[in-house]
Amino acid sequence: MESLSTAGFDEGGSTSISVSLRVNGQPVEVYLAPWTSLLDFLREQLHLTGTKKGCDQGQCGACTVLMNGIRVNACLILAVCAEGCEVTTVEGLGALDPAGSEALHPVQQAFIDFDALQCGYCTPGQLCSAVGLLNEHPAKSRAEIRERMSGNLCRCGAYPQITDAISRVAFHGTGPTAIEAAAAAMWMSPQDSGEVRG
Ligand code: FES
Ligand code: FES
Repeated sequence: MESLSTAGFDEGGSTSISVSLRVNGQPVEVYLAPWTSLLDFLREQLHLTGTKKGCDQGQCGACTVLMNGIRVNACLILAVCAEGCEVTTVEGLGALDPAGSEALHPVQQAFIDFDALQCGYCTPGQLCSAVGLLNEHPAKSRAEIRERMSGNLCRCGAYPQITDAISRVAFHGTGPTAIEAAAAAMWMSPQDSGEVRG
């Protein structure tokens, strides 16, 4: 990580630090109070309010974003720690589409197709976490996906559909011809693994 470039004082006399990073592919240079969380920076200064503040203490995953492709809880990271990094929020996921369409990321489309949300509050974090999961290493089973998504809570209990959606992208790719077969497979396997659908 590059060193922080500049420290100074803002109009109120508080210490501020110059930070340069990229957010959703765009270069950003700002002065920040050094105690500003990445979550508050994204929401309050860049107005990227897709990233949600749930617990603000690392327990719910609603604030999950990608930092250099790795999922992080933005409420637990100081914005100054993102110096020199590429940060991707839910607003920028489309640009990560492997097909380069810059529309919806395949994971986003799968969430729609499988109705993988109810209130939607957790959904941005679930989406970023799912993309991060796929970036890490291939998942071998639904059970592994559930385990590796366990840091993202959904109070509505949409977990089976979320697992369906991620499973389609992980196991069946994104082609339209795979959708029906994948859906059928997904609705069979929960019974095998003992999952309960609410
Ligand atoms: S708001 Fe960051 S983990 Fe809950
Ligand atoms: S869809 Fe409502 S908290 Fe997950």
